[in-house]
Amino acid sequence: MRLGTPSDIKLIDENGLRVDGRTPEQLRPIKIQTDVLNRADGSAYIEWGGGNKIMVAVYGPREAYPRHTQDIERAIVKARYNMAAFSVDERKKPGPDRRSVEISKVISEALQAAILVEQFPRAQIDVFIEVLQADAGTRIAGLTAASVALAAAGVPMRDLVVGGCTAGKVDGQIVLDLCREEDNFGQADLPMAILARSGKVVLIQMDGDLTTEEFDRATSMILNATKRINQIQREALQGKYIAEQGGE
Ligand code: CDP
Repeated sequence: MRLGTPSDIKLIDENGLRVDGRTPEQLRPIKIQTDVLNRADGSAYIEWGGGNKIMVAVYGPREAYPRHTQDIERAIVKARYNMAAFSVDERKKPGPDRRSVEISKVISEALQAAILVEQFPRAQIDVFIEVLQADAGTRIAGLTAASVALAAAGVPMRDLVVGGCTAGKVDGQIVLDLCREEDNFGQADLPMAILARSGKVVLIQMDGDLTTEEFDRATSMILNATKRINQIQREALQGKYIAEQGGE
């Protein structure tokens, strides 16, 4: 959500460091935990930086309801992105709004590309993404956790994980993984998500403007970061499987 750049806000200091002290290519710390909810078929909790806290619950595949929504050839993936009223500075009015409907749609489509939906005709897979605390990058953090929750639920996937990151332009420089000040007052942001194995891009959106060179630099930064993020996703899932086999 860009608010334009007030001239008195400096987002990169004289040492080239960002408002939260990171270098241009540095990710915020990411932690993912699986199986945090008892009643869901699969779940994951992600903390992306200290500021983003998101819970994901997966249900299904189960018979799609109401029946007229069923697709006789494949499962439908219904992701619902929701921000808690207390997740942002100004109380967020409960319920869907234009932004959450858009984010739910792009996440559903990204997950649909990762899941072997043709194995489950007439079914639906529900993915609830509850943002408890937001600090920019929630659609990508939510999607990254959703992919882990789906794998933890045993939903067959074409590609084990879909993960991604946001890059953008602040004070004329391309930087990775925007924090809220950078997202709000920077000149561009570009969230992107990729299937780990095939490298297929399944989500890309852009706000603001970039030259083609800047766009190339931003996407290559994201591709690099995605490898690291996929590793964190795999580690979260390995933790789950080690525990299930009676390990620590
Ligand atoms: O979260 P993401 O970057 O995917 O989406 P965004 O629309 O670019 O929003 C960026 C950030 O603005 C969110 O992560 C929140 O921290 C903040 N925001 C807010 O404070 N109030 C809202 N109603 C929506 C977003």
